[in-house]
Amino acid sequence: MTASSARFVFRPLPLNPRSPALAFPRRCHRPYLLQQLQRSSLPRTSVRNASTAETSSEQPIRTKTTGNNNSFRKALFRTSLAIVIVGGYFYLTDTRASVHRYVVVPLIRWIYPDAEDAHHAGVAALKKLYNLGLHPRERDGPDQDGSLSTEVFGYTLSNPIGISGGLDKHADIPDPLFALGPAIVEVGGTTPLPQEGNPKPRVFRLPSQSAMINRYGLNSLGADHMAAVLKERVRAFAYANGFGLHDIAEERVLNGEAGVPPGSLKEGKLLAVQIAKNKITPESDIEAVTRDYVYCVERLGKYADILVVNVSSPNTPGLRDLQATAPLTAILKGVVDAAKKTDRKTKPYVMVKVSPDEDSGEQVAGICHAVRESGVDGVIVGNTTNRRPDPLPKGFVLPPSEQDVLKETGGYSGPQLFDRTVALVARYRAMLDSQEGPKVIFASGGITNGKQAQAVLDAGASVAMMYTAVVYGGVGTVTRVKNELRAEKEQK
Ligand SMILES: Cc1cc2nc3c(=O)[nH]c(=O)nc-3n(C[C@H](O)[C@H](O)[C@H](O)COP(=O)(O)O)c2cc1C
Repeated sequence: MTASSARFVFRPLPLNPRSPALAFPRRCHRPYLLQQLQRSSLPRTSVRNASTAETSSEQPIRTKTTGNNNSFRKALFRTSLAIVIVGGYFYLTDTRASVHRYVVVPLIRWIYPDAEDAHHAGVAALKKLYNLGLHPRERDGPDQDGSLSTEVFGYTLSNPIGISGGLDKHADIPDPLFALGPAIVEVGGTTPLPQEGNPKPRVFRLPSQSAMINRYGLNSLGADHMAAVLKERVRAFAYANGFGLHDIAEERVLNGEAGVPPGSLKEGKLLAVQIAKNKITPESDIEAVTRDYVYCVERLGKYADILVVNVSSPNTPGLRDLQATAPLTAILKGVVDAAKKTDRKTKPYVMVKVSPDEDSGEQVAGICHAVRESGVDGVIVGNTTNRRPDPLPKGFVLPPSEQDVLKETGGYSGPQLFDRTVALVARYRAMLDSQEGPKVIFASGGITNGKQAQAVLDAGASVAMMYTAVVYGGVGTVTRVKNELRAEKEQK
């Protein structure tokens, strides 16, 4: 096409006063659809004036036909609109919709260049949508066939997938997260007193690796805040389920009268609450450190199915030193004793979340010894790593901007952790099995798909937990991984 042929040609309006175009001089500059709508809403007299070619004997028949057409168009428009709204609602609120992974995630990354801002926006959106009943959710009860059911602490979980600590730091969205399909949601970590964490920026993306580096430093609104949020949640549940509004209603739900676990408030699911010490509490003072954890247990124990003791975040100075056998045994004993005193019929289970970096034979043996001595119920293996794993696929060279990100201080998370996670799970399994009493293992670190979830389960974990995969994969990640896991099981 030549440039001149693409030019618009201006044609003056016809000057014939009987022309319909002149009868509606302002309308002819409007879009066609608007003209049609406007025409249909005009009084009949105007239509008659405009159509001077029409004879008076033809008029009633023509008006009636136009009226029928208009009603039909309106009905068609309304029906189409209703179909689009209802269809859109069912599509957008379904975790299987690929729009979540391929449109929403890139859009959020584009709108929020800072990963922490994106995190806050995501949490706020999920919370808002849940309150409006417009949140993404699993439809058609995919877990109901029982093919993914698994036993944890003698309880039957609907599936072996969990969401790791840190995604919902302040317990803002446990229910929207449960709606995405996991059987375990871990909220926190929370500390006894509120603390701000490290200065921003403190979260960084490595998009080519679907990985992240963070040095949040356990920013927390404090255990009392989280307890108040979780209490409110139980009260709302009690009221909605006919237990009333009083303290006694909360107690009845927490004591199991609703027939659901007191933490998750959902059949086949468990809520884990992660606790940690404040940064200002000196790690050399084990009594003070233990008091920090016990404080959290006393505030939060009754709202949790599982309490997770975090001694493995790399961003609180000295925290990982607490994994040495003697301090760990003392802290875990304190937590287990406090958990036993929880004011609830069933007591929360206690797990300890360990680092993937303290992985020498001696360190693993020491942690397992502390687990046995303290009576802790299980271990979450592991957390982010201080190491900088080789990029994937093998031989891939990071773009310069990501090479700079790699120099940031903080814990690395993402698919590159997976091989080490699966190996470490197997070692903990062997070590814990050689001791008295069965211990549960949850795996965390680099799990991205169903094959990997199956691999950590085969290595001895009961639950495969994810964080970074959800950040990059969006709200449909858990559903996708569970579908892949089902396919893995069918192939076996
Ligand atoms: C931004 C961010 C914040 C995190 N916050 C916590 C936390 O508060 N407590 C914790 O135990 N782990 C935290 N983690 C670690 C994750 O729970 C998980 O153990 C780790 O990222 C490895 O799993 P992944 O590769 O599936 O992400 C955080 C991870 C990320 C990326």
